[in-house]
Amino acid sequence: MDSFELNKIAGAVLASVLIIIGVALFTDLLYAPEEANPQAYAVAEIDDGGADAGPAAAAEEVPLAVLLASADAGRGERLARQCAACHTFEEGGRAGIGPNLYKVVGGPHAHDPNFNYSTAMKSVSGNWDFEALDAFIENPRAAVPGTIMSFAGMRKPEQRADLIVYLNTLGSNVPLPEAPAQAAEEPAAE
Ligand code: HEC
Repeated sequence: MDSFELNKIAGAVLASVLIIIGVALFTDLLYAPEEANPQAYAVAEIDDGGADAGPAAAAEEVPLAVLLASADAGRGERLARQCAACHTFEEGGRAGIGPNLYKVVGGPHAHDPNFNYSTAMKSVSGNWDFEALDAFIENPRAAVPGTIMSFAGMRKPEQRADLIVYLNTLGSNVPLPEAPAQAAEEPAAE
């Protein structure tokens, strides 16, 4: 088989793949499914005795305050090794690829005067509270679009809580938010 023939075969394969994709897209257009959101139904079924099941009950997520209450700064310190390629943590530590993180909790965005922050980070108003840090560490680029922190994000909420509690020990010691007593309990068996 010469290479011309191989090219023809490759071309044919490619063409059929394209056709299949095209047909799939077209049928999707024709039958754009408008399913009911199964999640919404499931939530409506939950009856926890009428105890303040606010909008938060719609999400299965454990509230950040609860995670923080059971977080561990020691674990957080170990997790912070993932950040150490770019960040220092001690008081007066140098800015590297990223800013020094001492006292970042409760501080303003772009809190390190020795670091040249992105315009995006400089233009975020407000302080680094627990929620803001949680969102940023989960997905930096979604939380602060245009940030130059190239870190993919930490997906596990428990790990982020550990990390935030550790960061809070670095000169900040911001009081942890009060955990809602009810959410702190294990969800009842179904
Ligand atoms: C690849 C390098 C890199 C890694 C890894 C990294 N960061 Fe960053 N980080 C940066 C840079 C760069 C900035 C400045 C972002 C900007 O200006 O947009 C930043 C900014 C921040 C800020 C904002 C600081 C301030 O003063 O406003 C926080 C908080 C932060 N990083 C936390 C973390 C944590 C926690 C981790 C580990 C889970 C981490 N970063 C991992 C590079 C990194």
